[in-house]
Amino acid sequence: MNRDKILGYLRGENDEELFARSAEVRSESFGEEVYFRGLVELSNVCACNCLYCGIRKSNHLAERYTLDLQTVKNTVAAAYEDGYRAVVLQCGELRSDRFTQYITDMVRMIKELSRDEIVITLSCGEQSEEVYRTWREAGADKYLLRIESSDPVLFAKIHPAEIDYTERKNRLYTLSSLGFMTGTGVMIGLPHQTVETLADDLIFISDSRFGMCGMGPYIEHKETPLFAQKSNFSTDERVTLTLRMIAILRIMRPDMNIASSTALGSLRPAARISALKIGANVIMPNITPTECRKNYDLYEGKISDLDLSKVGKK
Ligand code: 5AD
Repeated sequence: MNRDKILGYLRGENDEELFARSAEVRSESFGEEVYFRGLVELSNVCACNCLYCGIRKSNHLAERYTLDLQTVKNTVAAAYEDGYRAVVLQCGELRSDRFTQYITDMVRMIKELSRDEIVITLSCGEQSEEVYRTWREAGADKYLLRIESSDPVLFAKIHPAEIDYTERKNRLYTLSSLGFMTGTGVMIGLPHQTVETLADDLIFISDSRFGMCGMGPYIEHKETPLFAQKSNFSTDERVTLTLRMIAILRIMRPDMNIASSTALGSLRPAARISALKIGANVIMPNITPTECRKNYDLYEGKISDLDLSKVGKK
């Protein structure tokens, strides 16, 4: 799909055609199936200061926690019993030998517990090639690292100086070369973002090197610097744009694993289901122990539950 066509769809010039076509492609690729991945939020301790994120290092109001091996083992064992065969391990970003070992231990434990049956996706931020290799060799299968915005200028506006756009991009390519199925994605409705930048995001994400995508609306968090800046889009517009983004990406990449995000469900629960109808094929129910969920507070009003009655448990 060329950029003009993408832009037309993003502006809502032909929603009917877009959603009909994307639903058709979705069903050709995945039938009525939805893939479940249990999301474990391992820790909200973070060394980064991303300007949009509620668990940024400088938010001293965030109550920090880190799950121990036994807790995660119990959590994943219960999910396995429930039928889960895929988990996502997500956490704040730390770079230390101790952290590398912590994740390595988690990966080995889960593979052992499930006799290799559980597919593991890591979402543990930017690391060196050596660390990524260690985790890959321990058994991790996939890696999620959002580019957040493919526009270097916008990327710089929402990240502190030490987080570099080109390095982020190179890490994504390193991950695929190590054999991870690699996923990326962006936030939709960031201050300064326009439909033009979103069109370029889709062109970036649809690259054949990526096998997965997670993208959702940006939601302000009042303990972050970005809170003071205004988005060009209302929350309703962000929901609509997210659905259009998912639908366009589905047409561009019929085979890609595309998630219907928690952020989308947080703004409008029903939209998380609509996203599955018009293009997304992955949902990541939160399986983090309940008492820790409230602390993994990325943005205002983040939901920590998925009402399965709305989705069907298949
Ligand atoms: N609004 C929406 N999504 C956010 N994330 C972090 N902060 C916010 C926010 N304020 C997303 C980022 C990150 C993912 C784990 O959560 O895209 O990659």
